[in-house]
Amino acid sequence: MTSTKKIKSYDLDYIWHPFTQMKEYLNEDPLVIEDSDGIYLIDSDGNKYIDGVSSLWVNIHGHKVSKINSAIKKQVDKIAHSTLLGITNPSASLLAKKLIDISPVGLKKVFYSGDGASAVEVALKMAFQYWLIKGKKNKNKFVCLKDGYHGDTLGAVSVGGIDTFHSTFKPLLFKSYQIASYDSSNITIKELEKLLKAKSDSIAALILEPYVQAAGGIKVAEDGYLKEIQKICKKYNILLILDEVATGFGRTGEMFACDHDNVTPDILVLGKGLTGGYLPLSATITTDDIFNTFLGEHDELKAFFHGHSYSGNPLSCSAAIANLDIFEEERTITKAKKVIKVFENELKEFTGLKHVSSIRSKGLMAGIDLKRDPGNDVSYKLKDRIGKKVCDEAKKEGVLIRPLGDTIVIMPPVSIKEKELKKLTKSIYKSIKEVTENES
Ligand SMILES: Cc1ncc(COP(=O)(O)O)c(C=O)c1O
Repeated sequence: MTSTKKIKSYDLDYIWHPFTQMKEYLNEDPLVIEDSDGIYLIDSDGNKYIDGVSSLWVNIHGHKVSKINSAIKKQVDKIAHSTLLGITNPSASLLAKKLIDISPVGLKKVFYSGDGASAVEVALKMAFQYWLIKGKKNKNKFVCLKDGYHGDTLGAVSVGGIDTFHSTFKPLLFKSYQIASYDSSNITIKELEKLLKAKSDSIAALILEPYVQAAGGIKVAEDGYLKEIQKICKKYNILLILDEVATGFGRTGEMFACDHDNVTPDILVLGKGLTGGYLPLSATITTDDIFNTFLGEHDELKAFFHGHSYSGNPLSCSAAIANLDIFEEERTITKAKKVIKVFENELKEFTGLKHVSSIRSKGLMAGIDLKRDPGNDVSYKLKDRIGKKVCDEAKKEGVLIRPLGDTIVIMPPVSIKEKELKKLTKSIYKSIKEVTENES
């Protein structure tokens, strides 16, 4: 076996890590995660950490879940991959049926991709071509939200709204209409109506993250707002694309965030938790209306010319089937609702901390903002690295989390137990207190 020392040196020598300032990283001792146990991650020295952000918002039932493990093993003994271009496989087919069964009523067809960003690209291209086939070629723009995040490919960035991540790439992007974030969901609705009234002839779709703008800092919308958004989209003949890559699979306390308002979008985008956090797989799910629009003779060239090598990969699909089976067998959502109440109570404790300026949560997604002087609205400086310092401190407490700037994100596996959750929140509380109250 390769020694940990070598693993670390190969990592430092050869890997360029995502969303990471490598100058800083190269001066640190890399943390090597090599094992797991339920909601715990275990490093190369045997230290255990609660997976406090679900391995970047993907994990649902914890790690080493025997049902998912054996589903993948069973599948790999048959075949690891065959294409979905023009042929099918049992796992992709069975999963599609299961996804339609749990999706909002009216969604009928599943298009597979590999990760969230690709599934968003699919949604955008699908919406664009839908109107094109219908003879409305001017309906080619998208409406998106400030602070929205839909992935890092160029189409997804074109409908993104986080300046720090997105503004660099502006010259490469197509133009979209941007409305206000969930900081002010009233404004979003009024603004949307005004925009659509004026420009609906040139707009294909509205894309947003229902209820929680995750990467934008866990910004949470007001209850019931989604119904209003849907009404306005229908009124002005605009497709509604809901990106549930982060919010899907129980994260907000319902299977999908749009279930809170019983809203069926025209296109639903899923990823991350689809395989329980095991393997890359995403899905763009749509209505018969959109699907049927693309039907025609071969030489009409109406087919959706989009696909990925690993679309419908049998290993990923078998993991996803097992994930959904567990939801049903273990009544994951019902149990999560109880844990969410505990979580909400635990979060209230953080208001007592001097440098906490705001706490937002929906279900098991929470963001805690830190400020140098909340009373006078004075933020920390970028170079203070306060978010990172809190996460480094939490690591010492046996918790792995990753901040969004000065917002501490807590997003545990959906199946986390009450006792584990309390340990997680108490450790983060202690870390915030320790770091912020000792910061000069
Ligand atoms: C709402 C949302 N959409 C899309 C994505 C992109 O997914 P992926 O990282 O799998 O490409 C993310 C990732 O964080 C996300 O939160």
